[in-house]
Amino acid sequence: MPDAESRRFTVTEDAPAKINLALHVTGQRDDGYHLLDMLVTFTAHGDRLSFTSADRDGFTLGGRFAADLGGEPGSNLVLRARDLLRQAVLAQGGHAPAVTIRLEKNLPIASGIGGGSADAAAALRGLQRFWNVRVPADQLAALALQLGADVPMCLESRPLIARGIGEEIERVALPRLFLVLANPLKAVSTPAIFRLLTEKNNPPLDLSGDWMQAIAANRNDLEPLARSLTPEIGKIAGLLADCGAALVRMSGSGATCFGIFPSLAAAEAAEQQLHRLRPDWYFQATETAAGE
Ligand code: C5P
Repeated sequence: MPDAESRRFTVTEDAPAKINLALHVTGQRDDGYHLLDMLVTFTAHGDRLSFTSADRDGFTLGGRFAADLGGEPGSNLVLRARDLLRQAVLAQGGHAPAVTIRLEKNLPIASGIGGGSADAAAALRGLQRFWNVRVPADQLAALALQLGADVPMCLESRPLIARGIGEEIERVALPRLFLVLANPLKAVSTPAIFRLLTEKNNPPLDLSGDWMQAIAANRNDLEPLARSLTPEIGKIAGLLADCGAALVRMSGSGATCFGIFPSLAAAEAAEQQLHRLRPDWYFQATETAAGE
C-alpha cells in the first residue's frame, strides 16, 4: 500500500503579469467604478501557484516578494478564489477536496501588473484542473468579476481589449512583444489613484495603424497622476528610455513601467544594465504571448 505522502499529487499553474499597453478612463459608473478602455497583454514572467492534495486546506508562500504580502493570510485573493470555486463545484454536485496551495510571489505587490488578480485567476484555472471539474464559462467569468475587476482579464491571460470596468473582453491578435518591466518598489494604491483622478471622460482607444503605431498613439490616463504622486515613476521610465526602449509607459495604476525592445536579447541586455544602475529596484526582461 502506498503511504499518504506518495499518494499526494501536485498541479502547477502560471499567473502571468498583466500589462496595460494602454489604459483610457472613459467614464464612471454610479457605483464609483470607472469605465475603462484597455489594450492588455500578458508576460511569460509572473507568479506561480501549485496545488497539492492534502488532508486539510493549507496556504504557503515563497518567492522574492512573499514577505511583502501584508494582511491576514486568510484574506489573500487566492483563498477567496478557492472558496468561491469550491462553492460552485459543490453546488453542481462535484468534489472539491482539501488542497495545499503554494504561491510563489515573483511580482512586486501593488504594482499595476495585476499580481493579486493574476493569482486569483490562476487559482480558478488551476483548481479546476486539480479537482478535475469545469465550471461553465459564464459562471466562471461572474466568479472572477466578484473577485476583482481585473480577474476576468487575467483568467484569459492572452492579448485582449477590455472595456466596461474590465469585464467586456475581446481577444486581439497582438504580436509577441519583448519587454523590460521596471518598478521602483514603491507600492501604489489603485483606489487612491482612482479617487484622486479628476478627468474621467477621455477619448476611447484608437487602434488604427499597425500595433506599434496603435500602442504609441494611445495612453495610460492614470500615468500623469501616478507620476506626480510617486516621482520615482518618472525616473524609472527615463532609465528605460535611456537603455534603448522603443516605447515606455506605465501599466495599470503603477508604479510598474514597461519598455518595449526589438528582441528578447535586447531586453535582457537592458535588464542587466538597469540592475547595475539601480540594484535596489526591480527589473525583469520578459516576452508576451502572441494573440491568435
Ligand atoms: O476590482 P478591484 O478590487 O481590483 O478594484 C480596486 C479598486 O480600484 C476599486 O475599489 C476601485 O476603487 C478602483 N477601480 C475603479 N474602476 C475600475 C477598477 C478599479 O474605480 N474599473
